[in-house]
Parts: sequence; structure tokens; C-alpha cells
Amino acid sequence: MKICVIGLGKIGLPLAAQYASKGFRVIGCDINPEVVDSINRGISHIRGEPGLDERIGDSVKKGLLSATTDTVKAVRESDVIVVIVPLVVDKEGNIDYSTIDSVTETISKGLKRDSLVIYETTLPVGDTRDRMIPILERSGLKAGRDFYVVFSPERVSSGVMFRYLREIPKIVGGIDEESTRRGVEFYKRVLDSEVISVTSSEAAEATKLFGMVYRDVNIALANEFARFCQARGLDVVEIIGASNTNPHSHILTPGIGVGGHCAPVYPYFLIKNASDLEIDLILAKNARRINDGMPEHAVNLLGKELKDLDGKNVLILGIAYRGGVKETFLSPSLSVIEHLKDRGANVYVNDPLFSKEEIEKLGVEFADLKNLNALDAVILVTDHKEYKNLDLKNLREKGVKVIVDGRNFLEKEKIEKHGIIYRGIGRS
Ligand SMILES: NC(=O)c1ccc[n+]([C@@H]2O[C@H](COP(=O)([O-])OP(=O)(O)OC[C@H]3O[C@@H](n4cnc5c(N)ncnc54)[C@H](O)[C@@H]3O)[C@@H](O)[C@H]2O)c1
Repeated sequence: MKICVIGLGKIGLPLAAQYASKGFRVIGCDINPEVVDSINRGISHIRGEPGLDERIGDSVKKGLLSATTDTVKAVRESDVIVVIVPLVVDKEGNIDYSTIDSVTETISKGLKRDSLVIYETTLPVGDTRDRMIPILERSGLKAGRDFYVVFSPERVSSGVMFRYLREIPKIVGGIDEESTRRGVEFYKRVLDSEVISVTSSEAAEATKLFGMVYRDVNIALANEFARFCQARGLDVVEIIGASNTNPHSHILTPGIGVGGHCAPVYPYFLIKNASDLEIDLILAKNARRINDGMPEHAVNLLGKELKDLDGKNVLILGIAYRGGVKETFLSPSLSVIEHLKDRGANVYVNDPLFSKEEIEKLGVEFADLKNLNALDAVILVTDHKEYKNLDLKNLREKGVKVIVDGRNFLEKEKIEKHGIIYRGIGRS
């Protein structure tokens, strides 16, 4: 069995490495020639993924993994084709299909009889059957007769890929019974996790979206509780901790916002699916609104303490959307910066995973923690481990009067001991 993985990013490259580690010959495809060159030299371009560097080096050396920009040729040589390129939405929530459509068109040019095409990229319900198959059939082959198609959501997270690939059951839903059977057989050979079949590709697509909406709604609920606690003089962290001692309560963590390619994006897929059926997903829509409102809430907390933000120097800790990840897509930091600038503040940004040049490319001023300007306040957006032990004495000396802890990550007592006001999310 020869496997082709299309999209060698944070998820696709570890998947290719996983399949190769099971002894299968894997061809990775990407449009970025630098990514392809680096993999062919046995070097992973993805940082911060435990176990990835070794697996890539090892499988390239053994001749099990190679990479190419020639996707048509790779598809022609493969029995199983796994698609894991991004599908994103714009600011209005409109889905941008250009990448996945063009990848599917490319597959159709190399598709051969008996191949199994698997979509792992998160898709709206119905897209595997109604949008992808018509493009694949431009090959002249018929889905379900000449080739097989499965949707299998990727429910892992970058940074913990190999653990999650072992622990999280793989959901498989084909466009027909034979596709599902082949999909289940494939995953049993390449993964160590449990493999669960569902009755259709639509059920598999919905499985992923329901999980993502559940998460977004749950975080929005935690954020509502946080606002209540803030106004009522209570500590949301203490109360959620106490609530969750009940086995029926699984409240997630409030925070300054939800970013990245997944949580703030996929609810829009289901919202669109529902609206096509004339159903209004009120809860999902409001969760998006609440979570998108958290950066402004954090800036308002600061505004209350400093009275006026005009001309104030504010240091943002973290441009990444979550700790330990070098990714700024829909990061709450970007929204915090916008709100601060709207209110006339001077904004300086630090992130241990980004260079000065990378931060400046985003149109903001870089701050070196070892060489800070005079400051009035700090907003922590990203829970990078490097921020756990901030030099509070130095921050105080630079003039910091308030720290807004957007992730309830810092130690309140320590900060107050240095004469700095501490404001967490949902903590008075
Ligand atoms: N990132 C996560 O934590 C996560 C978690 C679960 C599921 N997913 C799913 O995985 C998908 C991919 O996420 P990612 O984080 O790996 O993205 P990524 O941006 O890290 O990588 C995408 C890769 O696809 C390549 N690419 C783009 N267009 C291409 C084309 N036409 N042909 C070949 N390659 C192309 C890019 O060059 C890049 O290397 C997401 O859209 C989502 O559906 C992601």
C-alpha cells in the first residue's frame, strides 16, 4: 500500500510520519517547494512537535518518506490519498474553498481505479459527497464503483500529535459501505487508536463540527460566568473548579479569546449548513459573538484601571493564539491590539516564538523583555510557559501599574506584592 498525504503542515507532516513509521511508503505533497526540500533532506519544518524530528529523519533515511510538489504524479502512484490542507473563513464567516477545490481538481488528474480518497480537512456537512465527488469524477471515474471516498475528521491538536493519534478514536464515514469498510481497514493498519465507523460521510463531517461547536459554546458560557464574577466581585476560577467537582459539570476555562484555524472557524460551517435548511443556530452564533467580544472586555478592564488609554504604553505578551504554538491566525492578540490602538494607546508586542522581524511584519512594534521602554500596563494574551516567571521588579521599575492576565495564568499575589494591580478574566 502506497499512501499520498496532501498538505504537509502542522497536521499533515506528522500524519505522513505516522504512516511511514508503520512501514508504509508515503509520498507527501505540498505546494511550498521549501517545505518539500526540507523534508527530502530529512528535516522537519514544523517546530514544537515532540517526536516529529526523529520520525522524519528516520523515515526519510529508510526511504519510506519522500516529498514532492508534483501532486498529480504522487496521486497516480498511490493507493490511498489523504487530504489535509486548510479550509478557512473570511471575517464575515464566508468559506474560502479555493485550496481544497484546487487540490481535489489536481487529484482528479492523477486518480486511478480502486484508489481510496480520504478527506481529513474539516468540511461542512455534505461537502465530501456534494462538492468533492463531482470534482473527483472529472477524472472520468465513478465514485463508489471505480474509486472510494471517505471523510475522517482529524481531531488531534498540534504539539501533542503523536499522543492524540494513539489516544483519540478515529471516526470514519464513507460515501457508501464499501468506502467505509476500506477507510476503517486503512486506519487500523496505520494507527494504534480505536477506529469507529459511522453510517455516512455526512455523519463523520457532523461529528467534528458538533465537537467544535460544543467547545466554543462551552468556552462562551465560561466567559459569561467570568463577566458575571467580575461584576459581582467573585473569582470565576475558584467557582468553576468547585462546580466541576460534580461529574455532570464540565465547564471549560474563560479567557481573552478563542483563536486559530479551528474553534473560531468551524462553527461557521455548521451555522451555514443550518441556515441552508432555514434553521437558525442561535447558541452557536452567540457563542461566536461572546468569544469574539473577549479581547474588548480585557481592554475595558485595563481602561477602567488607567482611566484613559490615550498615549499609554501597553506591552502585549503573546501574539500566538495559544501557548507553545507559533500561529497567529485569528489570534485574540490582533483584536486586543486593534482595540488598544483605537483608544490611542501605544502598543508593544513580545512573543518568545517570534523574532523581531516576524512581529514587525504584522505591523506592530516589537518589545524585547530585556530592554523595555517605559510602560504603563501589560496584557498577557498567550500562556507561553516563558511568561510564568516574569521579571515583575523590572516591570514595576519601567512604570507598569496594571497587569491584565488574559489567561488567568499568572500569580496574583506575587504581582500585587510588587505594587502592581492584577486583573484576571473573571477575577476581581
Ligand atoms: N492545526 C490544528 O491544530 C488542526 C487540528 C485538527 C484538524 N486540523 C485540520 O487540518 C487542516 C490543516 O491544518 P494545518 O494546521 O496542518 O495547516 P497548515 O497551515 O500548518 O498546513 C497546511 C499545508 O498545506 C499546504 N498547502 C496549501 N495549499 C496546498 C495545495 N494546493 N497543495 C498541496 N499543499 C498545499 C501548505 O503549504 C501547508 O504546508 C486544517 O484546516 C483542519 O481541517 C488542524
